[in-house]
Amino acid sequence: MRVAPSIIAANFTKFQEEIKRVEKANADLLHLDVMDGVFVPNITFGPLIIEAINRITDMELDTHLMIVRPENYLKQFIEAGSDWISFHAEATEKTDECIKIIKAQNKKVGLAVSPPTPFDPVKKYVDKLDFVLIMTVNPGFYGQKFLPEMLRKIEETKDWIVKHKLDCLIQVDGGINSRNVVELNQAGVDIVVAGASVFKSDDYKKAIKDLRCLKV
Ligand code: DX5
Ligand code: ZN
Repeated sequence: MRVAPSIIAANFTKFQEEIKRVEKANADLLHLDVMDGVFVPNITFGPLIIEAINRITDMELDTHLMIVRPENYLKQFIEAGSDWISFHAEATEKTDECIKIIKAQNKKVGLAVSPPTPFDPVKKYVDKLDFVLIMTVNPGFYGQKFLPEMLRKIEETKDWIVKHKLDCLIQVDGGINSRNVVELNQAGVDIVVAGASVFKSDDYKKAIKDLRCLKV
């Protein structure tokens, strides 16, 4: 299991130190939650901050766009240093165009789905994606409770990928901790995003290791 700590739950007055701590704790990716106050009822940061983060870390940057009309901003987020970019299926009518823009820049492309959105409309895009991001909370805030009913969608997505022999990863985001990660691992999830369970813990290294589901 790859682990992507989400910076949104970090102590923002110690930004650099927090990033270095998860880097030293062997995080695989750094998850960056971009919120616009329109698609979700919260506002975080944009490309300027990502560009600054990119200058102080070697971790791959995983930008999760929770913004309307992502097609208008993808270039900026790519130029800022994002290595992985996901945008929401619910936020655009130009999914194909978004996938094309991201792929043309040789970045990993992910399509994100909020809890109320079924897997069905995503099916036709899976063969073009590097990952599907299945939200296990309603997007907008860290520290929410994991929605166990999303397991069905995860299994459905996994079945589709296996059945069609597709090279697409499953990323899961929201309320993930060392307890519920076990089920996610069994369901075939490849990458877990973790905000509170890493940044609100006392030991980042242990928190990340626990999320990896390593067999001892
Ligand atoms: C929710 C974000 C998530 C979330 C992760 O809108 O996309 O990345 O903040 O934080 P936790 O793990 O605390 O739910
Ligand atoms: Zn996220």
